[in-house]
Amino acid sequence: MLMVDLILKKRAGEVLSKEEINFMINEYVKGNIPDYQMSAFLMAVYFQGMNEHESTALAIAMRDSGKVYDLSKIKGIKVDKHSTGGVGDKVTLVLGPMVAAVGAKFAKMSGRGLGHTGGTLDKLEAIKGFKLEQSEEDFIDLVSKHGLAVIGQSADITPADKLLYALRDVTGTVDSVPLIASSIMSKKLASGSDVIVLDVKYGSGAFMHTVKDAEKLAEVMVKIGNLAGKKMTAIITSMDEPLGHKIGNGLEVYESIETLSGKGPEDLVTVCVEIGAYLTVDAKIFKTLDEARIELKKTLTDGRALNKFREMVIAQKGDIKMIDNPKSFLTAKTHQIYASEPGYVESFLTTEIGTAARLLGAGRLTKDDILDLDVGVEVNKKIGDKVEKGDLLATIYHNDKGLEEAVKVLTNAIKIGQSKKGVKLIAKVIR
Ligand code: URA
Repeated sequence: MLMVDLILKKRAGEVLSKEEINFMINEYVKGNIPDYQMSAFLMAVYFQGMNEHESTALAIAMRDSGKVYDLSKIKGIKVDKHSTGGVGDKVTLVLGPMVAAVGAKFAKMSGRGLGHTGGTLDKLEAIKGFKLEQSEEDFIDLVSKHGLAVIGQSADITPADKLLYALRDVTGTVDSVPLIASSIMSKKLASGSDVIVLDVKYGSGAFMHTVKDAEKLAEVMVKIGNLAGKKMTAIITSMDEPLGHKIGNGLEVYESIETLSGKGPEDLVTVCVEIGAYLTVDAKIFKTLDEARIELKKTLTDGRALNKFREMVIAQKGDIKMIDNPKSFLTAKTHQIYASEPGYVESFLTTEIGTAARLLGAGRLTKDDILDLDVGVEVNKKIGDKVEKGDLLATIYHNDKGLEEAVKVLTNAIKIGQSKKGVKLIAKVIR
């Protein structure tokens, strides 16, 4: 088999076989296929696409390029979720304890934030001492004992995806549905869970701006998961505004603790309950989605979810005093932004809100940037809220760095107008 023939085949819009895709990934990881040939292939995929069987073969070949977790020692059905990335997206911190509180086994490997989007690992690092690096054995042990663990993605899973993603980044081939779908799914398949819910974001703060585009990506990922033997759901949720109010690592842990204590913002609670309902029904804990929704909501008000979160923090060696005194996450200086005119919040440039948080030090532009875990942004109004002149629109939590620019970016990101608009928080569910 020759790589040039596979490039020509894909350039002509033909379908590659599983054997051809396996050959290409194996030889590329071994260094036998040069980057210039793989770049040409990626560009051919960008223009010609891949069908669901090719996308699945690619995801599986990338999964098998590295370590694949075997979670079969954990009793019961293992559940996992993945978000395509958002602003203020703290769902994992709330959802994990909720589903563990009703008996699910939540085995989650998370990543770091990049650009305007946050990452769960950075958020958890705001809890002093929290241990994210765990061996496979310890991960299995934590999930078996406590029903949940959130750990850093091990360096040895999906090396093919790491190489290909770096190449896509510099060859203009990141935003291709089959390439994104197989990249995300290769990591999900390597993480070993049986039931997966994908939170596919759409809107001004998401990769995919429209529900239609998000749906296309979601459908391919669901197909890949199903063909690889997983029970899959994709929920398309809005990123037209940040999820909840707080954006920034420690700030998001604070808001998660508030939510786990029954005092959370409605949109965050709704997304967590919805994802949790599909996870727990597919894990056979509840018979119906409605039963699951009722029980999951209860865990936020009766202390069970907060207790699970505390249990996870203790088990992963985090400083429990910070959880019991959440104000310890609110140590930065504050700067307020007020409305200069009356009206309604009509829209947000959500990506720009993420950018404002990054300018303060809450996010990174390159993967080596060092974060300030205490800084970030709070949106005090959401879309559809009425605003009077002089009302508080947003609060910046800062340690001086980037303040002036963040104020400008954030002020421009909040659009006040005269019409009352709404947000379609859950746009669609694909199974
Ligand atoms: N996230 C991934 O893991 N891969 C992509 O290709 C895009 C987003």
